[in-house]
Amino acid sequence: MHSVEAQKLQNAARNRMEWFENVARYESMEPLQFAYSLLSGSQRIGHANLKLRDAGFIDRIETRLAAKCGGIARPLPPMFLPFRLRGMQLANRVVVSPMAQYRAVEGVPTDWHLVHYGARATGGAGLVFTEMTCTSADARISPGCTGLWNETQGAAWRRIVEFVHASSPARICLQLGHAGRKGSTQLGWQEADHPLSRDNWPLWAPSPLPYLPGISQVPREMTAARMEAVKNDFVRAATLGAEAGFDMLELHMAHGYLLASFLSPLTNIRSDEYGGSVENRLKFPLQVLRAVRAAWPADKPLSVRISACDWAEGGLREADVIVIARALAAAGADILDISSGQTVATQQPVYGRMWQTPLADLVRNLGGVPTIAVGNIYEADHVNSIIAAGRADLCAIARPHLANPSWTLAAAAAQGYAEQWWPEPYQSAKNQLERAAARAAIGDTV
Ligand SMILES: Cc1cc2nc3c(=O)[nH]c(=O)nc-3n(C[C@H](O)[C@H](O)[C@H](O)COP(=O)(O)O)c2cc1C
Repeated sequence: MHSVEAQKLQNAARNRMEWFENVARYESMEPLQFAYSLLSGSQRIGHANLKLRDAGFIDRIETRLAAKCGGIARPLPPMFLPFRLRGMQLANRVVVSPMAQYRAVEGVPTDWHLVHYGARATGGAGLVFTEMTCTSADARISPGCTGLWNETQGAAWRRIVEFVHASSPARICLQLGHAGRKGSTQLGWQEADHPLSRDNWPLWAPSPLPYLPGISQVPREMTAARMEAVKNDFVRAATLGAEAGFDMLELHMAHGYLLASFLSPLTNIRSDEYGGSVENRLKFPLQVLRAVRAAWPADKPLSVRISACDWAEGGLREADVIVIARALAAAGADILDISSGQTVATQQPVYGRMWQTPLADLVRNLGGVPTIAVGNIYEADHVNSIIAAGRADLCAIARPHLANPSWTLAAAAAQGYAEQWWPEPYQSAKNQLERAAARAAIGDTV
């Protein structure tokens, strides 16, 4: 108990110190947002707490942010500000983060996926991500992963996308990835990251380094021909994804999977043009990104998820992250989804509430690229604070959405945001939740 309290204090102190050390990052912000960023920089004082202290200040910043968002002429809780990326318009800033379900058969999403994604789309989030969907059978993490390398898979995804579009205002983003050296492993709730006991498939990676030495398969070093084939698989998957009607595409370059393992010096020890400097390590991921961007419709946005810190000695440095972020943006990424770690099994991450948000802030406010923050963002107040402080453009929320697909609907009612879209059959729940929240606000809990 005491150690948790001490950790909270240390996290707040570190966030506060980093804010002052990097204050130049925020100098182009408008004075109101700069002040908000200063006041909330420790990540311990959030939107609701600031409102208690100075309701007028919060009213002014909410009014200003809304005005900047397509000229809305009234204050809005920042999580309910709309957001536009290329031709895609989102109703709010809440994203259902990609989460592997391990329920696919031969890479084909099943009724589980229809219900899972359908429930989350009707649960109010502006944007719903698919789990990492693999570009070929041997690109999978496990035999339960979804894929997109044939028409059968394309048709199954189309059914899900059509349901989302017909039944909700949510947009849906396809996350595409290749597991690299972390492939051919057990389902998430079995011994994760450990190899299958049978029917393994061979692995490819930038360098022949196993993920768990002595346990994992040793991957083969990617040849030029293999890189070309993998790039073409990504392009085929993106084309099938466009045909299935997805609104957005994300390339998974995080968590130690194939493209991530090119980026990190811990997993890429090649001596050819694809290894060494950060520019060299970027070459293959950029080739894939450019090819996919060319195949993906021009009016639809593209995101890249990166691990912006390896939490291990000798891993990515802050300066590398900025080079990577700018290069990805220049090659066609509209937004970067900032996760971290899972590059090496020896990582030592420092967890805490909103623990990866400072990395999203780094990429957005120093790197100059729009970001999605993710990681232990579990209260509406966190989303309001991150958006109002300009630490990220969107907030991805994973585990809370497993427990409650309607996380956003509940958050809207709790904040008295009556304009929130609800599915028509659920209107009576909206009314009841809003009445309960209004009573709680005046202390009437009897
Ligand atoms: C069950 C589960 C499956 C996940 N699968 C993926 C995935 O397929 N792709 C991905 O990029 N991240 C995946 N993640 C990571 C989440 O998207 C998210 O980054 C992480 O859980 C932190 O967010 P949270 O604290 O809100 O849970 C997964 C997380 C969980 C809990």
